[in-house]
Amino acid sequence: MGAYDTAYFDRPIGRDRSDSVKWTQFGPDVIPLWIADMDFPACDEIVQALTARAQEGCYGYARDSQAAIQAMIDYHRRLYGWEIDPDWVVPQPGVVTALNLFCRLLRDVRPDRSDVFINEPVYHHFMSAAQLQHVRERRLALRPFGEPLPEGLESIDARGAGGWMLCNPQNPLGHLWTRAELTRILDYAAAHDLLLASDEIHGGLVLDAPHAYLPLLSLARSDAERRRLIAFVAPSKTWNVPGLGCAFAIVPDPALREHFTRNYDQLIPAVNLFGWVGAEAAYRHGEPWRLAMLAYLRRNRALLEAFAEAHGLPLCRLEATYLGFLDCRALAPTLGGESPRDFFLRVAKVALHDGAIFGSPGWVRINIATHTDLLRRALDRMADALATLA
Ligand SMILES: Cc1ncc(COP(=O)(O)O)c(C=O)c1O
Repeated sequence: MGAYDTAYFDRPIGRDRSDSVKWTQFGPDVIPLWIADMDFPACDEIVQALTARAQEGCYGYARDSQAAIQAMIDYHRRLYGWEIDPDWVVPQPGVVTALNLFCRLLRDVRPDRSDVFINEPVYHHFMSAAQLQHVRERRLALRPFGEPLPEGLESIDARGAGGWMLCNPQNPLGHLWTRAELTRILDYAAAHDLLLASDEIHGGLVLDAPHAYLPLLSLARSDAERRRLIAFVAPSKTWNVPGLGCAFAIVPDPALREHFTRNYDQLIPAVNLFGWVGAEAAYRHGEPWRLAMLAYLRRNRALLEAFAEAHGLPLCRLEATYLGFLDCRALAPTLGGESPRDFFLRVAKVALHDGAIFGSPGWVRINIATHTDLLRRALDRMADALATLA
């Protein structure tokens, strides 16, 4: 097996030739630091498992892999002490699909109060899921610095709302929710009888924080409370296998689960056989790679922090995920109406995500899961671009 050291993660892997969305969207002169995948090879254990399966040459319909499901359950117990009952698990081809199914569920089981609370900012497919499934969004603004939840959360009117989609850890703020914050959210959901879906796709990507990732479901204080909760987990972000399409909805309540199961059986595509193989290898054997990758990301984060500080651009504390959220609103007077994202793309030839799609115009999101050398070059180009504004 490979030595997962700095040299390993520094190794170029030719992503520009790999049909990558990230690397083909812009010209070859642009450094792409936008969509959330990593420029690192998947760990050897995943590659070997996939290769062995590919060489069998049999690609018919695959049954759901109980081995992969068990590996996912064992992993969460081992790392976080979270006990997942195998009966609660409904496979999903992706978490965006699961977000959509949750919104549909609200429409079906709570037709008179199907509005869904969504934080702002948040990963843009939270909004698109609500819109596509015709449930009304209730935006609940988070504070980007310090404690994100609004002080007056408890007095927010929930009439007409039946659910809340939470992002834990939070994309794009990089915030790892604390036990106290999650308890406030659970209390609010209980007080207003909300179903709470927690997207925990970034749970394996905690860089450092005073505490570990806390799966929301593991905090349920009673069986009744657990039954209002749903979690979405996946190996995709943590082990950089989003192209394999394997995720899990964890749904303790049998009636709510039936909705997910019926849609999985009858509407959405099943997890493909390589998704299962990759997931099992990741959860069973991916820990050395994950820990080394997090150490590499911490070094990259230090570069981003130094850049932000040098240019007086406030950066959200990046506790989890590999997505830095940079407040560029102070640049507005010098940008002549151009968004910071467009400015950095045009002048620096660095592609970032525009904060506007997450609900925060004037911000940019930068993906630091790339080679340190490339990140350094991108930040140098951004610094040169900023120098032209003076
Ligand atoms: C919070 C969050 N949820 C879901 C996804 C996408 O999930 P999937 O590719 O499994 O649909 C992403 C991708 O960046 C994400 O950041």
